[in-house]
Amino acid sequence: MAKPDSFFLTTPIFYVNDAPHIGHAYTEVAADVLARWHRQAGDDTWFLTGTDEHGQKILRTATANGVEPKEWADRLVESSWKPLLNTINISNDDFIRTTEPRHEAGVAKFLQKLYDDGHVYAGEFEALYCVGCEEFKPKSEIVDGTGEFEGQKVCAIHSKPLELLQEKNYFFKMSAFQDRLLALYEERPDFVQPASARNEVVAFVQQGLEDLSISRTSFDWGIPIPWDDAHVTYVWFDALLNYVTATGYGANDEEFARRWPGTHIVGKDILRFHAVIWPAMLMAAGLEVPDHVFAHGWLLVGGEKMSKSKLTGIAPNEITDTFGADAFRYYFMRAISFGHDGSFSWEDLAARYQAELANGFGNLASRVLAMNAKYFEGRVPEPGEELAADAAIRELAASAATRADAHIEAFAIHESIAAVWELVDALNGYITEQEPWVLAKDPAQRDRLARVLYTTTEGLRALAVLLSPVLPEATAKLWFALGAKETLGALSAQPIREAGVWGKLVPGTTQHSLAVLFPRIETEAKE
Ligand code: MSP
Repeated sequence: MAKPDSFFLTTPIFYVNDAPHIGHAYTEVAADVLARWHRQAGDDTWFLTGTDEHGQKILRTATANGVEPKEWADRLVESSWKPLLNTINISNDDFIRTTEPRHEAGVAKFLQKLYDDGHVYAGEFEALYCVGCEEFKPKSEIVDGTGEFEGQKVCAIHSKPLELLQEKNYFFKMSAFQDRLLALYEERPDFVQPASARNEVVAFVQQGLEDLSISRTSFDWGIPIPWDDAHVTYVWFDALLNYVTATGYGANDEEFARRWPGTHIVGKDILRFHAVIWPAMLMAAGLEVPDHVFAHGWLLVGGEKMSKSKLTGIAPNEITDTFGADAFRYYFMRAISFGHDGSFSWEDLAARYQAELANGFGNLASRVLAMNAKYFEGRVPEPGEELAADAAIRELAASAATRADAHIEAFAIHESIAAVWELVDALNGYITEQEPWVLAKDPAQRDRLARVLYTTTEGLRALAVLLSPVLPEATAKLWFALGAKETLGALSAQPIREAGVWGKLVPGTTQHSLAVLFPRIETEAKE
């Protein structure tokens, strides 16, 4: 048997200075849907997420709260970041913290190699730093402050004053990799996606790359530079390495060879780190660059990036407590084009929940199973002859499944769901046209009734598989009710790329009653 394709997928690792909001959860869910899809396709999938715990931002927050940074990080990881994964049903295979020994050892090893190979030198530096971004800002992101920051230079992303830092640092000779990076973007146009992100990166590198300051001396919350412990490692240099320290770099060659290179899902604010600095670091170390870097857009509030520091953050459980994790996942993946910015609104969420999940998919499933119960003693019907209308559904299932998979390969999650939803809508239309409740009144139409309900039940089988990456809870309930487990095995064992192949449900199989998939929501209107 051929070896399954390796698919290593990552989220950014999250700063632990504060609790997560729905912008962070958005990144997690998108990556989770991709990981679940690939896992369900039989790819050798490994899905990594974690936390970014060093640097000035965390140190300052911890100090302001009167605790040591490690204690602060422990507290936030246990009380907020790990629980987030349950709140939105994330299926990560690993969770890395940058304060773990496996990471710190890997970073030290990587740095030492770059130093030994002549990619690092000592120098003086003076520049404007944003602690929010943890970055010396390029000119394009330095703007004049307004209001209380009038007369000061502020960060274009955080709108907070920049700090002038002057230090003796170690530098990574990143400028030496400019041509190789440009060649990479040229040779592999899908390395950075979407195209708008690629263009931005190419333009940035074409302007000329500077060397990168990779150490700090004014505080000590970080990984010591192995040859000079007066310095700690620059937090981004440390953080980016999580993708390889979590997969065995320098410690487990077999594991590393199996997983690396990976694919990174990142927000567009941190694209440059992943598409410029990170591949340059890997080239310097003689390692392969990532397969892909995909930059998604921002969740906006009032036209600006949602953020806790601007007091626009919404906690994920404010949504899941009312609508559930499945609806959270569905809404953000369906309503926003992956790769573009999008706005969240309670009205849109509630409307889609009702129209698409409850009335569209949930109602379809409950009607079909109820009719099987009523007319076929709760069993999968033995289908009669296939007519044109039935064949159209069968063909649509095959094409929707194929297109959905192609869209996932292209990171177009919203289009993948839209393709699958064509089948939801078509099945609802088919039931309305075929009127099985009318057929049921005429004993001469028994075979026709069986064919209509077999077609819709098979449609539900395909939908359960195709929607399982987005709606893991609802599809698990549906799979149970279909009775499919007894003949086809667990839902997780169904190959998603074959979900559109017809005729898998075995006639005569006993079905079970279906738990309500999307209960009616009684809420006072939220804003
Ligand atoms: N620690 C760095 C990443 C290091 S990766 C080696 C970091 N952390 S973060 O917590 O600030 O952000 C993590 C992710 O959340 C980023 O991809 C960021 O784009 C995403 N989001 C934060 N706010 C967001 C929105 N309002 N909308 C969408 N995603 C947003 O950056």
